[in-house]
Amino acid sequence: MLFQRLLSAFASSSAVAHAITKGPTPSQIKNLVTFGDSFSDVVQTGDHATAWPVYAADYGHYHLFPYAKYGAPCSTKQIQIPYPSLLESQIPSYEDGIANGSLSMLHPDDTMYTLWIGANDIGGWGLLTGEAAQNVTLVDIVQCTMEWVEVLYKSGARYFLFQNLPPLEHTINYGAVSYPNLYWTAQRNQTDWHLTMTQYVAAGNELSSLMLKNLASTLPDIHIGLFDSYKLISDMLAHPQDYLNGTAPVNTTGAIHSCVYELNESTSDTGNCTIVTGSDVDSYLWYDEVHPSEQTDRIIARELVAGIERRSDNWTTWFS
Ligand SMILES: *[C@@H]1O[C@H](CO)[C@@H](O)[C@H](O)[C@H]1NC(C)=O
Ligand SMILES: *[C@@H]1O[C@H](CO)[C@@H](O)[C@H](O)[C@H]1NC(C)=O
Ligand SMILES: *[C@@H]1O[C@H](CO)[C@@H](O)[C@H](O)[C@H]1NC(C)=O
Ligand SMILES: *[C@@H]1O[C@H](CO)[C@@H](O)[C@H](O)[C@H]1NC(C)=O
Ligand SMILES: *[C@@H]1O[C@H](CO)[C@@H](O)[C@H](O)[C@H]1NC(C)=O
Ligand SMILES: *[C@@H]1O[C@H](CO)[C@@H](O)[C@H](O)[C@H]1NC(C)=O
Ligand SMILES: *[C@@H]1O[C@H](CO)[C@@H](O)[C@H](O)[C@H]1NC(C)=O
Ligand SMILES: *[C@@H]1O[C@H](CO)[C@@H](O)[C@H](O)[C@H]1NC(C)=O
Repeated sequence: MLFQRLLSAFASSSAVAHAITKGPTPSQIKNLVTFGDSFSDVVQTGDHATAWPVYAADYGHYHLFPYAKYGAPCSTKQIQIPYPSLLESQIPSYEDGIANGSLSMLHPDDTMYTLWIGANDIGGWGLLTGEAAQNVTLVDIVQCTMEWVEVLYKSGARYFLFQNLPPLEHTINYGAVSYPNLYWTAQRNQTDWHLTMTQYVAAGNELSSLMLKNLASTLPDIHIGLFDSYKLISDMLAHPQDYLNGTAPVNTTGAIHSCVYELNESTSDTGNCTIVTGSDVDSYLWYDEVHPSEQTDRIIARELVAGIERRSDNWTTWFS
């Protein structure tokens, strides 16, 4: 009886301790391990400039371990894109580093793992155009991203920050009004693309939020946060003057590098390009028809670090 009372007292005090230790404390994180696609690749960068993980490592004074790769889907079992996928390539490459000792400086308590993926899976190379493997749905794709948490958790990781999908329906490629571009030159029904992408992104983000909350409450000692890219970039679209600081008028509809192709033209041609240069580029939210610009990347980095260092709850929610 006494033993039981002690046990339940212990259980409730540890529940309280758990509740007050949601997320990391300021200065706790020393290492940043990033996974994802071209939005986060630091070599073949989506914005043809410095990628956000490099800025984040700089702003947060973190050691950076970048695994994100251009073109990546979550899994090639779902989307057969010939680029290094998260589950079959990026995570195995990280696990090789753990196994051979080259990542021995990473400790569960001082290492934050981030993931920003999904744009390729749901876009023109995936769900949107019927390129996904048979019967694969949006639900399967979001579940695939949860495997990232589960696999890394099993290998010892404890701090996760999941970046949800940005408002892809407002990129040029998936916007209400578009043109044949590097990412798509075949005929398409643009209204249909725009409406469908709007649904995928909204539903995918709601699913990932619910699934992350569920993992946060079921895996012991895990710390899971959601970085709301959708909300941040939507705020940039609504109030560009608060974020974009180049020497041209703020621009959220065009791109730094926009190339108009003829319908059905091969994308190995160059297209008819309009290219913004110099200090004007920081006035643009988009780099090209699908990628955020370097200034958008700086904002993402700044706000993500503010979420990790607990300076701002504006876009980051710690579920555990
Ligand atoms: C460990 O594995 C990683 C990933 O495969 C590789 O890049 C690195 O060179 C390896 N390091 C050593 C010391 O073997
Ligand atoms: C897809 O679903 C159909 C209908 O349920 C089923 O017959 C088929 O085997 C499934 N295909 C795959 C590859 O899972
Ligand atoms: C394009 O898609 C929209 C939305 O699904 C539909 O209303 C419209 O009829 C389609 N247009 C053509 C030409 O098929
Ligand atoms: C815009 O602000 C960033 C910091 O967020 C700075 O690095 C960059 O140089 C600024 N751009 C211009 C054109 O002043
Ligand atoms: C935005 O930039 C594009 C590409 O440079 C340009 O064509 C367009 O006129 C600009 N829009 C505004 C509102 O300045
Ligand atoms: C583009 O390709 C489609 C499918 O092959 C064809 O039906 C259409 O006529 C082509 N359009 C142009 C402008 O070449
Ligand atoms: C390229 O685009 C510009 C502006 O949209 C247009 O004036 C020009 O004729 C185009 N050039 C070619 C070769 O199509
Ligand atoms: C958070 O958002 C509020 C309201 O938009 C703004 O005043 C504040 O500066 C933001 N804080 C940070 C750290 O971004």
